[in-house]
Amino acid sequence: VVKDGQRVFDLVTQAGQSEIVQGGKADTWGVNGALLGPTLRARRGEDIRINISNSLEVATTLHWHGMRLPAVADGGPHQMVEPGGTWSPAWGIDQPAATLWYHPHPHGETEKHVYKGLGGMFIIDDDEESRLALPRHYGVDDIPVIVQDKTFNAQGQLVESGRVGVGMLGGTVLVNGTAAAVLAVTAEHTRLRLLNASTARSYNFGFSDDRSFTMIGSDGGLLAQPVPLSRIMLTPGERAEIIVAAAPGEKFTLRSFPQCLGVADSRAAEVGAQDKLEILELTAAATLSPSAPIPTQLATMDYPDPALAGDMRMFQLGDNSINSKFMDMDRIDLEVKAGATEAWGVINAHNQPHNFHIHDVQFQILSMDNQPPPPELAGWKDTVYVPPRMTIRLLMRFGEHTDPVIPYMYHCHLLWHEDMGMMGQFLVV
Ligand code: C2O
Ligand code: CU
Ligand code: CU
Repeated sequence: VVKDGQRVFDLVTQAGQSEIVQGGKADTWGVNGALLGPTLRARRGEDIRINISNSLEVATTLHWHGMRLPAVADGGPHQMVEPGGTWSPAWGIDQPAATLWYHPHPHGETEKHVYKGLGGMFIIDDDEESRLALPRHYGVDDIPVIVQDKTFNAQGQLVESGRVGVGMLGGTVLVNGTAAAVLAVTAEHTRLRLLNASTARSYNFGFSDDRSFTMIGSDGGLLAQPVPLSRIMLTPGERAEIIVAAAPGEKFTLRSFPQCLGVADSRAAEVGAQDKLEILELTAAATLSPSAPIPTQLATMDYPDPALAGDMRMFQLGDNSINSKFMDMDRIDLEVKAGATEAWGVINAHNQPHNFHIHDVQFQILSMDNQPPPPELAGWKDTVYVPPRMTIRLLMRFGEHTDPVIPYMYHCHLLWHEDMGMMGQFLVV
């Protein structure tokens, strides 16, 4: 709804029951339903307000992952919505078209709240993207693919236990809350908006027949040019927009293949690196609607000037800690100036997989162990995988929203790690 020039979304976080495993019943949480939530969509230049009413018996939050917005609207651990309470953040959308998402962020409980089912996709549109000949018929040739792994018991109930190294790894992979998901392909080209919304698992996406696909977007929006690939790895929180071509009558499957997470061979099984998972079965119709060729140029990238960045800030990822500190809600770890260009260096000094996510900004990856990033990591990112022993350098320009008191977060997006303290807070002043 648009009221007084403001686009308004009404959301209710609620408990319910879902039949995810056939014949079973799982107690789940959702937004405006029993499991997951609606896809939210807004256009660059719009003012939006989101009313979140919490009908759960516990306090929660909703955080707008990847969004540039005032800290007070961010939905981090400082914006809890009490049971029976309502919270109404408002902001102006001012960033490129992208596939973002929303999920709870209560300190120490994020893993549980996401695992129970709270979350959804948040699509941003803009004029530059709208001018391109890309598949954009939502639910027809432009498909949200929210990927989550879970464990169910014999009754079909969610099992929340069995954490090792990275957290909980489930053997059942859901797409948009559905196990053994299928997609009826009706166009020559289908755009899949892949979102790894799992708490701990990383996926190495590809297709069963090893067909190549075209990546067009990463976390923060479209890439400069399309990138042909046969695999794309996404760690928790990361997104990729890909276009897959199909011929009439074809049947093939989106899978996760074994991957190199950079851990010692002896630990590869424990972190799920050897798992092969079936994710989404695609069946193409006998006649497909024609699709335009993929444009050869996508977005213009307005990268920050590295010369404007001062000394690099270093973040050392350790055992549930960053720079040897555990998250403290009452401690501000750093301050940045509004509009500042900064270089951040992130080193994984631990023997576990970790990634690094920063609120409010999209960053450019300058280097990974002094090498330039591969093309699939060359666009705007808000979450990046940092394998053990690697150093990644990031460049970013902060926004103009200042707040002298309320911080934004940076953290590992493996949610058990985050909950255990692998998070810090920064002010934009
Ligand atoms: Cu999606 Cu602070 O996270
Ligand atoms: Cu975030
Ligand atoms: Cu971690």
